[in-house]
Amino acid sequence: MTFYVTTPIYYVNAAPHLGHAYTTIAADVMARHHRQRGEEVFFLTGTDEHGEPVADAAHALGIEPQQLADRNAERFKSLAPRIEVSNDFFIRTTDRVHEQKVQEVLSQVRDNGFVYEGTYEGWYCPRCADFKAENEIDPGNRCPIHHIELTREQEDNYFFKLSAFQEPLERLYAERADFVAPRTRYNEALSFIRSGLRDVPLTRHKLSWGVRVPWDHEHVFYVWFDALLNYYTALSYARDEDLTAKFWPASYHLIGKDILRFHAVYWPALLMAAGIELPRHIFVHGYLLMEGEKMSKSLGNVLDPFEVIERFGADALRFYVLREVPFGQDGSVSTASFELRYETELANELGNLASRTLAMVGRYRDWQLPPCAPDPALAADFEDLTDRVAELMDRAELTLALDEIWQRVRRLNRYVEERAPWRLAAEPARAQELDGVLGSLAEGLRSVTVLLWPYIPASCERLLAALGASGLALADAGLGSGRVERLSHLEPLFPKEA
Ligand code: MSP
Repeated sequence: MTFYVTTPIYYVNAAPHLGHAYTTIAADVMARHHRQRGEEVFFLTGTDEHGEPVADAAHALGIEPQQLADRNAERFKSLAPRIEVSNDFFIRTTDRVHEQKVQEVLSQVRDNGFVYEGTYEGWYCPRCADFKAENEIDPGNRCPIHHIELTREQEDNYFFKLSAFQEPLERLYAERADFVAPRTRYNEALSFIRSGLRDVPLTRHKLSWGVRVPWDHEHVFYVWFDALLNYYTALSYARDEDLTAKFWPASYHLIGKDILRFHAVYWPALLMAAGIELPRHIFVHGYLLMEGEKMSKSLGNVLDPFEVIERFGADALRFYVLREVPFGQDGSVSTASFELRYETELANELGNLASRTLAMVGRYRDWQLPPCAPDPALAADFEDLTDRVAELMDRAELTLALDEIWQRVRRLNRYVEERAPWRLAAEPARAQELDGVLGSLAEGLRSVTVLLWPYIPASCERLLAALGASGLALADAGLGSGRVERLSHLEPLFPKEA
C-alpha cells in the first residue's frame, strides 16, 4: 500500500504565516497516520516561485525574483521541521528538473491537440495571478479576494482548450462523488463546470519570470500550470530512482478553498489532456480567520507561526488549529482562544491525566504494573476506536478524528474520578483492584497516545517513553493490544506557565 499526500506550493512573495502552516500541518497528520498503518508514504510540500506575484514583490524590493525566491523558499523550508512536519521532499518550481518536466508535459498537451494561439482580453488580478470572469468581480472592478483594482489585460497567448473537457469533467464528477470534499466544494466545482468552461491562457507573453515555452521562446507558461504540475514532476526527481510509478496518482491533494477551481477543474482537465491518471481525492479546507477576515499577508492580519511555537511549542500549535477550526470549514483563531485550549485541554485534560497516572503508579506500585486485562467498563468505551479514527482519516476528517480520540481522553479522566485509586490504595485488601484500575488507566493512556501521535508527535513520543511502550503501529493502538509494565517519571507535557 502506498499513500501520497500534497500541500499547495506556497508563493514566495512573502514569508510564511499561520495559514500556510495550517495546510502543511494537516498533510503531516495524514502522512503520519498512514505511516502508522505501515503504508509507504510520500508527503510533498514546497514553493511556487514563478509568476507575477513573485516578480512584482521582487521588483518592489529592488531585487531579482530569483533572489526573493531563494530568500523566502528558505523560510518555508525551515518552517517545516519547526512545526514537526515530516515531508519527504520540498519542491521548488525553479528546480531545473521540474522546469524540464513542465516543458515535456505541456508539449505533450500541445501534441495531443489541446493548445492553440489566440488573444486574451479580460480582467486580471496580479496577486491571484488569475483571470477573472465578469461574474467574479466585485464592484469597482475589484478582486473579491485581495480587494485591489483589477487590470484590463490584452495579450497574445497560447490557449489551453479547457472547453474540450466540459463533458469529461462532468462525467468525472458523476462517477466519482468523492473526488472533491467536502460536499459543498464538490458542488461548487461542479456548478462552475456546468456554467460552461471557456478556454484559458496557457502562456504569458508579457512576463519573463517563468518556465520558457519550448516551442516559442517569447512566452513563459502561465504560473498555475507550472505550479500544478509540481505534484507530478516531484516524484520523478525527489530520489535517485523515479517514484512516479510507485506513488502516482496522488491519494490526496489538500488545498485551501481559494484555489479550488485550479485544482478541481483545470488540474484534472490538464491531466486528461496530457494522458496522465487523475489524483484520487482533493480535500478543501477553509480559512483561518482573524477578526472575521482571511488571514493573509496582503491584509496584514497574520499570526506568525514562529512566534506561536516560541511560546507554546509546535505540538500546541498543531493541536490548536485542527481542534479549534473544523477541518473543511472557516473558523476564527485568536491568541485568547489558543490560550484557553492550551490550558483546559492540553494542560488540564491530557497533561494532568498523564502526570496523575504516572505519579500514582510510581507512588503505589513503585513504577511497575502486573499484567491485567483492561476494565470492561473502559473497554466498552474504547471499542472500535482505531477503526473509527482510520475511517475518518480516510476522508481527511481530521477534526472529527481528533474529537473521537479526545472523547476517550475525557473518558479516562472520568475513570480516574469514578475509581478513585487513592481510596483503593488506602485499603490493602483491595490491592488487586488497584492493580486493575492503574493497569487499565495506563493502557488507556497508551492507546490514546498512539492515536494522538500524528497530531502532537513530540509530546506523544515523550509520554510513550514514560509508559515504557514506544510502539506507534496503528494495529497495536487498540485498548488491550499493548502492554504497559515499567513506567517512569515525566516532566509536565504542557507546562502551565507557557
Ligand atoms: N501558489 C499557489 C498555490 C499553488 S498549488 C499548485 C498559492 N499560494 S499561497 O501561498 O497564496 O497559498 C497557498 C495555500 O495557503 C492556500 O490554498 C491555503 O492552503 C493556505 N492558506 C493561506 N492563507 C490561509 C488562511 N488564512 N487560512 C487557511 N489557509 C490559508 O495559492
